Amino acid sequence: MTQAAVPTGQTENVPPEEQANPPLNRREFLNIAWLASLGFLTVALGGGAVIFGIPRFREGEFGGMFTVGRVADLPPLDAAPANYPKVKLWISNSAEGLVALYKVCVHLGCIYGWSDQETKFICPCHGSQYAYNGDYILGPAPRSLDRFVITIEDENGNILAQTPEDGGPVAIPDNPNAIVRVNTGAKILGEVHG
Ligand code: FES
Repeated sequence: MTQAAVPTGQTENVPPEEQANPPLNRREFLNIAWLASLGFLTVALGGGAVIFGIPRFREGEFGGMFTVGRVADLPPLDAAPANYPKVKLWISNSAEGLVALYKVCVHLGCIYGWSDQETKFICPCHGSQYAYNGDYILGPAPRSLDRFVITIEDENGNILAQTPEDGGPVAIPDNPNAIVRVNTGAKILGEVHG
């Protein structure tokens, strides 16, 4: 029996829809897969650059720069420390200078408080105590309180004073309009005792 001739450009036994959209061969498939991965990688890297380019903390939030105010508005010498709960901060102002204390106990992370009666910081969890400037007094805490970096700038943004690398107190410049700022993202660990 004679077989019918297959018309030119048409394959025998191939459904008409496949003839219109012939299946990809291996090379075409690999090319498309490679281009798709390249596109995905570009989008991922671009997205990462955008995300990492955005500051993690906004000004005024914990983890970012916090403006305390003018020198003239600081608590007077040896007054009760100023409390800034939103940014987990105490500011103590003694004759040595200013210190910015991180509000989390260095023992196991409880929030400690200031006692007006005992004039010291006391942690309610296990009783660690710290002096006005954050120095360790007693209890299970392994070190003095952690401090943040303070910067004091004049009206033009020039730095007049800054917390030294060891976290020591900052002498307050003689400029009542200078601005006191605390970097709550720059923590200096307290000194280990004993
Ligand atoms: S967490 Fe403060 S003393 Fe233990």
